[in-house]
Amino acid sequence: MRIAGTGSMLPKKVITNDMLSQFLDTSDEWIRTRTGVVSRHVISDERLEDMAIEAARRALADAEMTADELDFIICSNVVNEYVTPQLSCIIQGGIGATCPCIDINCACAGFIYALEIAESFYQAGRVRNVLIVSAEEPTRMTDWKDRRTCVLFGDGAGAAVLTPGDNIRSIKLSASSATDKLWQYRLLHPTPYITKEEVDMPLQMKGQDVFKFAVKAAGKDISRALKDVGIKADDVSHYLLHQANIRIINAIQEYLEQPAEKFPTNIEDHGNSSSSCCPILLDECNRSGLLKRGDMVAMSAFGAGFVSGAVLFEW
Ligand SMILES: CC(C)(COP(=O)(O)OP(=O)(O)OC[C@H]1O[C@@H](n2cnc3c(N)ncnc32)[C@H](O)[C@@H]1OP(=O)(O)O)[C@@H](O)C(=O)NCCC(=O)NCCS
Repeated sequence: MRIAGTGSMLPKKVITNDMLSQFLDTSDEWIRTRTGVVSRHVISDERLEDMAIEAARRALADAEMTADELDFIICSNVVNEYVTPQLSCIIQGGIGATCPCIDINCACAGFIYALEIAESFYQAGRVRNVLIVSAEEPTRMTDWKDRRTCVLFGDGAGAAVLTPGDNIRSIKLSASSATDKLWQYRLLHPTPYITKEEVDMPLQMKGQDVFKFAVKAAGKDISRALKDVGIKADDVSHYLLHQANIRIINAIQEYLEQPAEKFPTNIEDHGNSSSSCCPILLDECNRSGLLKRGDMVAMSAFGAGFVSGAVLFEW
């Protein structure tokens, strides 16, 4: 398969670090130097599904395709306002598609997991055109009194349209269960039979453990993909990494011994929008003209689970 079009959509409300320091014991200096985030887009009166639909429409327009040409839709999402139906089915209706659709929750690595699922469909000869949409509102998961988590995140949606081709060179996925590092419990409705203790809590994170996992996992996934294709880190033109922390990106850059120019970022004004980071960054690099036909691109993401993945593709 190949990526034929990209799209993205961000909420209109922008929250700067200085705005956060008005109600949190934090500062622009701390957030900027420890994370690289300067501002982030957060959902206010928008609905996530509308942003997902708009990102999908933009990706379809970029691919010069109409929704009725789609054979499958995969939506990567951690939380949204609906428990059911699935977000992909809402997007399907919103863009006017009629194909089957599925949601996956692979945390921040969801876009790369979705690419792997799509690739399997292509290899089985079951699809021609596939839409992937990552839509996330992590700002609805964090405790806005917890300076260790809420400063990191932003919301948004990113999408990619896939068509037949041989541009995807390698995808490598990993998972290693660690449920006490990055997790959130939600309270389900009670029944007369529930006797276990249950809690409702915002996102919990052991930041330093996540940091170490991220650097190790991304380095390993990208190296495996490079080895699979038989190329070197030097042969990759652009590294589009999950935008979790600029220090994580810098550490991966050092591990790969590659120049900073190869690592475009948008963490400065987006923060971490979970699985939407990769397709939003891809869309921005596509639209700015940074990606040139024939460029080798590496994309890598990691998140709660832990799960992680890397993909190597030719633009
Ligand atoms: C969260 C993270 C930025 C914290 O940075 P860190 O350098 O590890 O900082 P620490 O957690 O050691 O905290 C250092 C101090 O800063 C404080 N601090 C934490 N957040 C702060 C904030 N927003 N503003 C000011 N101080 C803050 C801590 O309370 C701590 O204070 P103490 O020394 O008095 O206890 C970093 O660990 C990280 O990015 N981890 C990965 C998170 C991630 O990517 N999650 C999503 C994965 S998909």
